[in-house]
Amino acid sequence: MPLQVLEHALAADLVSRLRDVSAEPPLFRTLTHRLTRLLMAEATRDLPTKPITVQTPLESTPGRRLATQVVLVPILRAGLGMLEAALDCLPEASVGYLGLERDEATAVASSYYHKLPPLEGGTALLLDPMLATGGSASAAMSRLYAAGAASVTLLCVVAAPEGVARLSAEFLQARILTAALDRGLNDRKYIVPGLGDFGDRLFGTL
Ligand code: PRP
Ligand code: URA
Repeated sequence: MPLQVLEHALAADLVSRLRDVSAEPPLFRTLTHRLTRLLMAEATRDLPTKPITVQTPLESTPGRRLATQVVLVPILRAGLGMLEAALDCLPEASVGYLGLERDEATAVASSYYHKLPPLEGGTALLLDPMLATGGSASAAMSRLYAAGAASVTLLCVVAAPEGVARLSAEFLQARILTAALDRGLNDRKYIVPGLGDFGDRLFGTL
């Protein structure tokens, strides 16, 4: 599975600000929004385009327009923090939702909600800021491929090697784009150094 760590000075700056334990939810949400725009720019770099002719105020000139419909799929809750920025980049994208929650004791994710638009042959951008054990992303990717997605890219803020290894073993063709690849997981399956519980920090439920 292709893994890409976003190498960008602004992304590095934003990840460090997100890691800071003193970042309260309003700032945390803003930083997530800004970082997601950078991730989206990279994730969509090679989307297919088609040639067009555009009339400027001065003359006709060749141009290009996107030639594919993208489906954005945030994993609830934390992926919601990335959705608005993703829609800023692709306002015409349709949006599917996958509700997944890790059990606090076992860290095993279970599904509590799903609603997907048509995906047959489509491009899905899966939004989830944390890739830890990979259980949530694995369940999400299974559902997206079962719905017929031709291409799935996971956009995350911080990934652990354990989660990357799991997805690589299960989904050879999927792509992971992360702003940071961390050292590993602690005994509670939290990413270290990480940034804590993303959903809690986003929504103030600590
Ligand atoms: C977090 C995070 C991912 C998942 C990652 O969600 O947003 O979905 O954990 O962990 P994994 O790779 O081990 O599955 P959580 O289950 O805490 O739910 P929340 O977003 O509602 O807080
Ligand atoms: N989910 C989070 O929000 N943070 C982690 O470190 C692991 C899973």
